[in-house]
Amino acid sequence: MDYRRLVESAKRAQKYSYSPYSAMKVGAAILTDDGEIYTGCNIENSSFGLTICAERTAIFKAISEGKRKFGAIAISSEGASPVPPCGACRQVLHDLTGDIDIVLTDKKNRIIVMRLSSLYPYPFENKSLYTNKK
Ligand code: THU
Repeated sequence: MDYRRLVESAKRAQKYSYSPYSAMKVGAAILTDDGEIYTGCNIENSSFGLTICAERTAIFKAISEGKRKFGAIAISSEGASPVPPCGACRQVLHDLTGDIDIVLTDKKNRIIVMRLSSLYPYPFENKSLYTNKK
């Protein structure tokens, strides 16, 4: 799979990052099963815990517009090495996307592709809930 278009979308979204506290600009682009791309950036808050990551911005935008099936998410950052999704984003992605490709890219345009299941191998999920146990 050629993820160049997805990576370019993540890079464009990164420019809109609102990150006055960390100065860390992150962009994300998620690919739907019907070939659409939804993008997001990280949006920080003076009450730091209210900050949202780029990945969750992108997937929440897609979900809120009716999308339910996804193939991959690209994550772009400016650091010397690619930034992997944080634990909160791994959890949210696992619940909403299942096992998808995670495409990491950095300033030097290197690309690393990993499966979400390798980044989050023992997830808390719907079937972990007591109400779903027999
Ligand atoms: N950040 C993301 O947008 N995605 C991640 O997966 C890691 C962290 C953002 C959140 C915050 O605005 C900044 O990077 C520093 O943690």
